[in-house]
Amino acid sequence: MNAKCYAVSDFEHQHQGALSFEQYQAMYKESVENPDAFWAEHGKRIDWIKPFTKVKNTSFNKDDLHIKWFEDGTLNVSANCIDRHLAEHADQTAIIWEGDSPDQQQHVSYQQLHDEVCKLANGLKKLGVQKGDRVIIYMPMVPQAAYAMLACARIGAVHSVVFAGFSPHAIADRIIDCQASVVITADVNRRGGKALPLKHNVDEALARDDVTTIKHCVVFNNDDKQLDLPSSQVWWHELTKDCAPVCAPEEMNAEDPLFILYTSGSTGKPKGLVHTSGGYLVWASMTHQKIFNYSPGEIYWCAADVGWITGHTYIVYGPLANRATTVMFEGVPTYPDERRIGQIIDKHQVSILYTAPTAIRALMAKGELAAQDSTRDSLRVLGTVGEPINPEAWQWYYEKVGKTKCQIIDTWWQTETGGAMITPLAGTTPLKPGSATLPFFSVQPALVDSDGKELAGEAEGNLVLKGSWPGQARSIYGNHQRFIETYFSAYENVYFTGDGCKRDADGFYWITGRVDDVLNVSGHRLGTAEIESSLVAHEMIAEAAVVGYPHDIKGQGIYVYVTPIAGTEVSEELTKSVRDWVRKDLSPIATPDMIQWAPGLPKTRSGKIMRRILRKVAANEYDQLGDTSTLADPSVVDNLIENRLNR
Ligand code: WT7
Repeated sequence: MNAKCYAVSDFEHQHQGALSFEQYQAMYKESVENPDAFWAEHGKRIDWIKPFTKVKNTSFNKDDLHIKWFEDGTLNVSANCIDRHLAEHADQTAIIWEGDSPDQQQHVSYQQLHDEVCKLANGLKKLGVQKGDRVIIYMPMVPQAAYAMLACARIGAVHSVVFAGFSPHAIADRIIDCQASVVITADVNRRGGKALPLKHNVDEALARDDVTTIKHCVVFNNDDKQLDLPSSQVWWHELTKDCAPVCAPEEMNAEDPLFILYTSGSTGKPKGLVHTSGGYLVWASMTHQKIFNYSPGEIYWCAADVGWITGHTYIVYGPLANRATTVMFEGVPTYPDERRIGQIIDKHQVSILYTAPTAIRALMAKGELAAQDSTRDSLRVLGTVGEPINPEAWQWYYEKVGKTKCQIIDTWWQTETGGAMITPLAGTTPLKPGSATLPFFSVQPALVDSDGKELAGEAEGNLVLKGSWPGQARSIYGNHQRFIETYFSAYENVYFTGDGCKRDADGFYWITGRVDDVLNVSGHRLGTAEIESSLVAHEMIAEAAVVGYPHDIKGQGIYVYVTPIAGTEVSEELTKSVRDWVRKDLSPIATPDMIQWAPGLPKTRSGKIMRRILRKVAANEYDQLGDTSTLADPSVVDNLIENRLNR
C-alpha cells in the first residue's frame, strides 16, 4: 500500500480545463454536504422537457427503501444523445465503427445516427411496441446495436441487451424474466475472422415451450448473403424501408426505466438491474466528461461490449450525451494479431482508450508485438475497468501503450452503480498503481467489518456506500424484495457492494476483489451458483462446487469440483463433455479452466459445503486449510489434495 505516487505533473499530457485537486476536494465536499444544491446545478447538463423541481429523495433504510432523483422532471434520453447536437454539429461523426476485418470501417454522423434511430423507432412502433414494453437486444458490435438501444429509448421501450456470447438458455431465461415482446438480433457475429451464427441462438431460445411472450423478431443482415427467414421474423432493412427518418421522442419521467441489464449474483439466477432515465443519464454524462476530461469531438474508444454495463454507459449513453465521437470495435484485440489495438488507435487518432486489465495482460503476454507498427501518439488518457489491475499490468499499460505520457485512470464500479464510482479524474488526481484512488462526487465509501462496524483511517474491510448517487440502479426487475435483501440488508442504512477494499493512510482506496460467491473471470462477472446449477444438469454429475483461483491472464480462473453419479466411469472424454456442456449451456466465458473429479465434497455436519477449503486447494495453498474439524468426513480433504490440479 506504500506504492509510488505519481503527481499529475509527472505526465507529459496536460489536461486543459481539468479541475485542480483542490477544486475536486471542494466540489466533493459540497456534493456530500449539500447534494440537493450540487445536483440541482449538475442535473442541468442534460436537456429536460419539463425541468425538475425536486432533486434527491432517497433512503437506504431497508424498511423504507426508496431511490428517486429529479423525480418530477421529464426528458428523452435519445433526444439528449442525438437531437440536441444536430443544430450545430449534425455532420460531426458520432460513431466510428471499426470492423472485425481491418479493411472495414464506417463513420456515422449525428445526422445519420438520428435518421437510423428514428427509422427503427418507427419500425418498432409499426410492430406495436409501446412505452414500457421490454425489447431484448442480442447483437454483435455494430452501429445497429447502438441504434437499437437508442430507438427503444426514443419510444420509451425498455431494452435489455444480452451479451452476444450468451447461450440460448441464457437468452430464454432473460426473455421469460422480463416478459419481452420483441427480440432484435443479427444473422451473424464476426469475431477474429469468423462469421459466427447468432440468430441461430435466438431461434433455439424462441423454440422453447416456456418462451411465450415474443411477438416479433427483427434481424439485422450482417452477412454478405441473406438467409431465408421464417414468416415470424422480419429483416431490419425490410421493416425500416418505408419508415420516416423522423420520430418524435417520447416524453419520459426521470424515474421511468431506461433499461434492464442482467448480472450475476452470489445466489440463484442473474438479476435484472433496472436503471432509470434522468439520474442515469446525468451520471453517465458527468462521469464520462469529468473522469476523462473529455471535450466534444475528441476520438474516444471504450473497447468493451455493449452487452455489459461498460458498453451501455461508456460506449453509448455517456459519450453520445457529451457529443463524443465514440469508437465501436466489432472484433477482438488479437486479430489479425496483437498489433491491432495500436493500429486502431493510430488509424482513428484515438485520444482516450478505456479497456480491461485482462486485455492488457493478454497483450503483455505477447511481449513486444503489441507495440509494433503503431506510434499511439494520439493517446492522452488510458482507462481501465472491470477488475483490480495488478501493478505489473499498470506499469506495462503506462510504459508500453502510453509511452509514459498518459495517466492511467482505474475506475471502480459495478452494473448496479450505473457509472464509475471510485476513480481518478484525468488531470486532477494523483495516481498510485493498483489503486482506484478517490470517490467521484456524492460517492461516500466506507469500510465495515463483518459485524457492520465502520472502520476508521487506514483499514481493510467490506466496501459499502453511504448515501445515494443519481446513477444507481433502482430495483431488480420483478423482484424488489431481492434488491432490498441483496444490497441493503447485510449492513444497516448503506449499500453493500460485495467487494473487499483497503484504505491507505492518504485515504486512497484499493479494491481487493469480491467477498461473495461472485467470480470475476477476464472482467466478466459470473456467479458460482449459476455454473453449479449448469453442472448438475449434466447427466453424469451428482454434485458440483465452483470456486475461483488466481489466473495470470484472466485474473480469476474457474475451478470446478464434480462428484459423478454413482457407478460412472470418470474419463478424459467425460471431463471434456462437462467442459463443453457448460460452454454451450451458459456461455464460452463460463468454460471451466480446471475440472477435478471428487468422490465427496467437504461438508459440515449440517451439509454446508466448506468453500474456504475448496478455494485453498484450488489455489494450491492446501497447507493453509485452517480448522477442518467441523467437517462431517474430514477424509474427503485428503482425496481433494491428492488429486488437485493446480500445482
Ligand atoms: C465488479 C462489478 C464496472 C463495469 C465492469 C464490471 C469488479 C470493476 C474494478 C476496478 C477492481 C473492479 C468489482 C465489482 N471491478 N472495476 N477498477 N478495480 N475491481 O461490472 O460486471 O457489474 O462487475 O467488478 O469486483 O464489484 P460488473
